[in-house]
Amino acid sequence: MRRIVQAAQPQPQPSLEPEIPTPLERPRRLRRFSTMRALVAEHAVRVEDLIEPMFVVPGSGVRTEIGSMPGVYHQSVDRIVEDARAAHDLGIPGVILFGIPERKDEAASGLTDPSGPVQRAAAALKRALPELLVIADLCACEYTSHGHCGLLDANANIDNDRTLTLLAAGAVSLAAAGVDVVAPSDMMDGRVRAIRLALDARGFSETAILSYAVKYASAFYGPFREAAASTPAFGDRRTHQMDPANAREAVREALLDVAEGADIVMVKPALGYLDVVLRVRAEVNVPVAVYNTSGEYAMIKAAGAKGWIDEPRAVDEILVSCKRAGADMIITYFARAAAARR
Ligand code: PBG
Ligand code: ZN
Repeated sequence: MRRIVQAAQPQPQPSLEPEIPTPLERPRRLRRFSTMRALVAEHAVRVEDLIEPMFVVPGSGVRTEIGSMPGVYHQSVDRIVEDARAAHDLGIPGVILFGIPERKDEAASGLTDPSGPVQRAAAALKRALPELLVIADLCACEYTSHGHCGLLDANANIDNDRTLTLLAAGAVSLAAAGVDVVAPSDMMDGRVRAIRLALDARGFSETAILSYAVKYASAFYGPFREAAASTPAFGDRRTHQMDPANAREAVREALLDVAEGADIVMVKPALGYLDVVLRVRAEVNVPVAVYNTSGEYAMIKAAGAKGWIDEPRAVDEILVSCKRAGADMIITYFARAAAARR
C-alpha cells in the first residue's frame, strides 16, 4: 500500500464578508409602480359596497352636527333626503336609518309609530329616490326611556320573548313605511325568525333582513349612544351583546340567524373583529356585512384633525381591510368621503 502524504496546504483565510446569495424570489417586481400594483391588487373597495348611516330627528330644516362625530348630523326628513340624494349621486347604493323619536317611553312605542322619524324618512326617500336602498335599524334602545334594547320585566331585566313581539311589530311598521331592509341590532334570541314570520304574515315577504348577527358589547359605540341618546340608564348590554373574547360563538350566532331567515349577516364593530369577519365569511353562504362603528369613526376623525394621521389614507386602508377579511359590504360614516375618491 502506498501512502500519499500530502503536503500541508496553506489554509485560505476565512472571509468576514459572507457571500450573500442573489434572492430567488423578488415579490417587489410586482410593486414597482402603480399600474403594476393595481394589476395585482387582490381586493378593492367599490362604491357599491358602501352604506351610509343617517340619524333622523323630528321637525324640518334640522341639521345639527353630532359632537363626537364631526361631519355626521342629526337631520330632519327634508335634510335626510338631500343628503341621501348626494350619497346616491356618488353611487352609494343605500343608507341605514336610525331614529330619534319625539318621546321615549318604557314600551318603546315610537318604534311602531307610523309617523315616527324613520317611517317618515323611509317614505320620503322611496318617493324621492326609488332606486336608493333604504335600510332601517331595528332596535328598542333608541325608543325606550331607559335606553335598553328590549322591554324590561319586573326585575328590570330584559324580557327576551316579549321583546320579540315588539321587534316583529317594529319590522312590520318599517316595511309598511317602505323600508327595503330591516336590520335588527338588539341581539335577542330568536328575533330573526319572529321578524320573518311577522313580515311574511303581513304581506312583506320581499322585505329583507340584514341581521346584526354578531354584535359585540363594545366600547366603540360610544359616540353613537350620544347621537341616539341611547346609553342605558343603568346596567350595560353585556347580557345580550357578545363578549369580545369569543369567536367560535360568533359562528354559532351567524349560523343561527341564517337558519332563522337572515338574508345578510353582519359583524360589528369592524376593526377589532376582522378575524371574526373572516370566520363568519367561511361558514355562511349569505352576504356578510361589517359595521365600521361610531367609535372607530371618531378615532380617525380626531387623529386626522390633529394631523396625527393622514385621514383619507387611513380610511381607505380600513375599508380595504374589511374587504380583505371577507366583508361584502361596509356600513361606514366615511361612505361619502370614500365614494368621492373613487
Ligand atoms: C342599537 C345600535 C347601536 C349601534 C347600531 N345600532 C348601539 C348599541 O348597540 O349600543 C352602534 C352603531 C355605531 O356605534 O356606529 N342597538
Ligand atoms: Zn339597541
